[in-house]
Amino acid sequence: MARSLEQLQKQYNKKAAAMRMGGGPRGPRISGGGKMKNARGTIARMLGYLKPYRFRLVAVVICMLCSTVTGLFGSYMLGPIINKLTAFVSPDKKYDMSAMEKIAEKIIAVFTGPIGENATRSDLMGYIVSVISILAVIYAVGIISNFLQARLMLSISQGSIQTIRNDLFTKLQRLPVRYFDQNPTGEIMSRFTNDIDNIDVMINNSLTSLFSGAIQLVGTFVFMITTNWVLTMITVVFIPIFALGGGAIAKVSSKYYSGQQAALGAVNGYTEETVTGQKVVKVFNHEQICIDEFDALNDDMRDKQFRAQFWGGVMGPIMGNTSQISYAVTIGVGGILMIFGKLSAGALTIFANYSRQFSMPINMLSQQTSTLFAALAGAERVFEVMDTAPEAPDSPDAVEEPIQGEVVLNDVTFGYVPEKTVLKHISLYAHPGQKIAFVGSTGAGKTTVTNLLNRFYDIDQGEITIDGRSIKDYKRDFLRENIAMVLQDTHLFTGTVKENIRYGRLDATDEEIVAAAKTASAHSFIMRLENGYDTVLEGDGANLSQGQRQLLNIARAAVSKAPILVLDEATSSVDTRTERHIEHGMDRLMKNRTTFVIAHRLSTVRNSNAIMVLENGEIIERGDHDQLLEMKGRYYELYTGVKELD
Ligand SMILES: Nc1ncnc2c1ncn2[C@@H]1O[C@H](COP(=O)(O)OP(=O)(O)OP(=O)(O)O)[C@@H](O)[C@H]1O
Ligand SMILES: [Mg+2]
Repeated sequence: MARSLEQLQKQYNKKAAAMRMGGGPRGPRISGGGKMKNARGTIARMLGYLKPYRFRLVAVVICMLCSTVTGLFGSYMLGPIINKLTAFVSPDKKYDMSAMEKIAEKIIAVFTGPIGENATRSDLMGYIVSVISILAVIYAVGIISNFLQARLMLSISQGSIQTIRNDLFTKLQRLPVRYFDQNPTGEIMSRFTNDIDNIDVMINNSLTSLFSGAIQLVGTFVFMITTNWVLTMITVVFIPIFALGGGAIAKVSSKYYSGQQAALGAVNGYTEETVTGQKVVKVFNHEQICIDEFDALNDDMRDKQFRAQFWGGVMGPIMGNTSQISYAVTIGVGGILMIFGKLSAGALTIFANYSRQFSMPINMLSQQTSTLFAALAGAERVFEVMDTAPEAPDSPDAVEEPIQGEVVLNDVTFGYVPEKTVLKHISLYAHPGQKIAFVGSTGAGKTTVTNLLNRFYDIDQGEITIDGRSIKDYKRDFLRENIAMVLQDTHLFTGTVKENIRYGRLDATDEEIVAAAKTASAHSFIMRLENGYDTVLEGDGANLSQGQRQLLNIARAAVSKAPILVLDEATSSVDTRTERHIEHGMDRLMKNRTTFVIAHRLSTVRNSNAIMVLENGEIIERGDHDQLLEMKGRYYELYTGVKELD
């Protein structure tokens, strides 16, 4: 019963594929799994978001330099202590001192005064205490830089993420209706949540690691080479091993990370669909099927996540162990150098420390690869949305001229997809103030006609004019402002009843809102609500009946002063008595406005100036109620119920 994983993946990726098809030459693309397409371009764009913060980034780098140098130099302070101690235990042994050791001794000497060959126990004890105090100061500076760096970095990451989130949301507001018709809500939501979260983690953690890793790598190298070049060479020889191993694993994990993000998108899309459709799921006892299908998607996600996390996570430990080998060899060779008096015990200790630290930034970076790739995959998906072609911009000479409401459709042919024509050669004429009705069976194309009027979709052939001017020559916002619509699917926003009605015209006064509600026959039920017009509606008006929701949607259109009104099944859930009330109200309101009414209930349309009977995307009959009845055609069948079951 449940669909197979292949089917599910195919279905949840089909919409994405459609986007790719319809996107033109540089069309939008949705990752349906597989490899990252353009990692370099994505990184460059991410860096673009950091550009405004370049000065703060410089400050971060300075803090990192400070903390790295204090860390490295701090361990140098320990060298002289060890050397003094070895000299105390066996004064006759001589050794070479590195340049850095001499500097460290000099710095210490400034505070402690010189310490001779015949230092006593208490001399040495004082020496140790002084050196440790110097160390404490050095480390304190390091800690302060760390603190500043973390704060700065957070402000950078939060700031840039805020910009990305804003850009994404702004872009969504500009996308054509087609995009939302073709992409599951959950899929779009997951770009806002997971993908952006991943980018956030990356900027905050990975970027810091990248910078501080590089600084530490260079810094440690400088300190190592000034201590002993032979040992440095040994450490360096191990680098290609890190790099090669790391690179190979990174390649594998990047592949799985894109797959992981796509699987996550599918799981989110599925969850969203099931949650919104939960009532239907329950009505038809589909719970088990949903569970099974989700299970399949979830299993797939686990597998992809497992592989991605495994290859991302395995890198750290492997690199860690490789660095242990380098450490052991360093100690061995250093020991031999010490035997020949080429290295002090202090220098060997310091060096051993460094050689370990040297692999740390490399480890750190390799551990970050998983977040890095997740973020890159996420960023790519976010940028994909941003790159989707928005609604075509208004032509430069688009106008905003007062509209009377004369609407003409001239031989309009349209299809949502090229291979299927939905409307065929539709022509009609509506004088200002006329009421034009569309009737016809389900799927005939009634809603599609209204989708074209306000340019939810642009037409392929023919022309739509308002007051003799093509709708493409009006500014789009202006056009929509002049067409008030009650959509077939009602939608209410979280907010008060008043705010929801005011959505139709933001400068409407409270009195106008009440008047609109009265026109829509919504006033009396609103007054019965707990807080009247100030009652807060939640979750698309879940606390209202379907009919009440429709009344609010009508009130919202009524408050608008648009000269053209479209009512798509606006009163389908309202009882006939209330409907008649609304009609009377609307008639008053619509005296000088052109109204398009779509209704299955024919009593709603009988007083229209003209009724268009749409069938299969064609107008097969037109006329007023009486003329159509006389024709004894399709309208007659619909109206009288004769031959209804053809
Ligand atoms: N977003 C879309 N993408 C592709 N095809 C669509 C889309 N919306 C509608 N269609 C198709 O266009 C045709 C006309 O749909 P439309 O919504 O205009 O019908 P309708 O006459 O309003 O039906 P109803 O009375 O059920 O509301 C249908 O065959 C439908 O499959
Ligand atoms: Mg419809």
